[in-house]
Amino acid sequence: MDQLRVGVIGCGLISGVHIHAIEETDHAVLAAVCDIDPEKLEKTAKEYGVKGYLDYRELIAQPDIDAVHICVPHYLHAPISIAALRAGKHVLCEKPMGTSLREAQAMAQAAKDSGKTLSVCFQNRYNGATRRMKRIIDGGEMGKVIGGSAFVCWDRGGAYYADSPWRGKWATEGGSVLINQAIHTLDLMKWLSGGFELKSATMTAKRLAQAIETEDTCDMLLENESGARFLFYCSNCAADNMPVQLHLLLEKGQLHMTGEQLTVLGPTGAAFEDYATDTKIGKNYWGNSHIHLIADFYDRLVRGDAPFILPEDGMETTRLMEEAYLSASTIRRRPE
Ligand SMILES: NC(=O)c1ccc[n+]([C@@H]2O[C@H](COP(=O)([O-])OP(=O)(O)OC[C@H]3O[C@@H](n4cnc5c(N)ncnc54)[C@H](O)[C@@H]3O)[C@@H](O)[C@H]2O)c1
Repeated sequence: MDQLRVGVIGCGLISGVHIHAIEETDHAVLAAVCDIDPEKLEKTAKEYGVKGYLDYRELIAQPDIDAVHICVPHYLHAPISIAALRAGKHVLCEKPMGTSLREAQAMAQAAKDSGKTLSVCFQNRYNGATRRMKRIIDGGEMGKVIGGSAFVCWDRGGAYYADSPWRGKWATEGGSVLINQAIHTLDLMKWLSGGFELKSATMTAKRLAQAIETEDTCDMLLENESGARFLFYCSNCAADNMPVQLHLLLEKGQLHMTGEQLTVLGPTGAAFEDYATDTKIGKNYWGNSHIHLIADFYDRLVRGDAPFILPEDGMETTRLMEEAYLSASTIRRRPE
């Protein structure tokens, strides 16, 4: 089979990015869409000329659907992915891989049992600057990663949460700035550095305490087994969507990524590399790589290869986030 027939489940904000990427990909064709909202469903089905389903169970029962993209609220990622895998479909799930480690493990198990492919949408692993960082680290000339820091400072206000009421609630979003926005950068820092464990986390709601149950700001200290320390800060309280910053300290230099620009500081000085975005599909302030991830997902399926982003990758990020959510402290106040 060299072209897979794809269903997109969830016709909200991100679905258009998936659908455009599917349309650009040689090895996939959009065959169906699904949403519980009849208006959104009709609009999307009409726009792309495909069949629409109000119930995902009906879509995944179709024998001519090979794969589905899960673009629904976080709390539905695990149940819908598991049902689709059990129905014999390959699954590309939007991040996060479940709202708890238990959900992520159940998704990975369902993939194993069904023999179908499950992957998670960490598209920023495909950005030019992050691919270059990975090549430099794997090349070994700059030595091991011995520390780092990351900053995700974005703007998500009350309207964003009011537009989709599943956001900002523990039961349906599973958290906020960490599990929804900054998850990509946590995944990248973990992937590029080789992994770490959480030492401590702080979660606060600085701007949106009245509007959401969850955190709009979070910081974490992470450490690996060699003692390398990593600082992570994320907030939805910024004045605008600032470029993501990821700095890694290596034994023989530093890698500084700001948005899509990479600065390599080696023993002989600084070299600047600009990986300005090469596609209009996606967000313009950081991370337009859904198109690359989705093309690669189908190329690999057609070749019979494992996905680039494995269920274990998604599970590990969900584990770290869960630890942060369960152990987070609040700010310490000086006694009067
Ligand atoms: N990778 C990225 O950069 C990125 C960016 C944005 C969103 N996302 C992810 O995409 C997912 C969706 O986010 P969004 O911003 O599009 O949300 P959204 O609220 O705009 O859309 C979600 C859609 O799912 C539909 N839905 C709810 N329950 C359903 C069900 N049982 N069956 C079918 N459809 C159902 C809703 O009606 C809605 O249209 C989330 O997991 C989010 O984290 C990822």
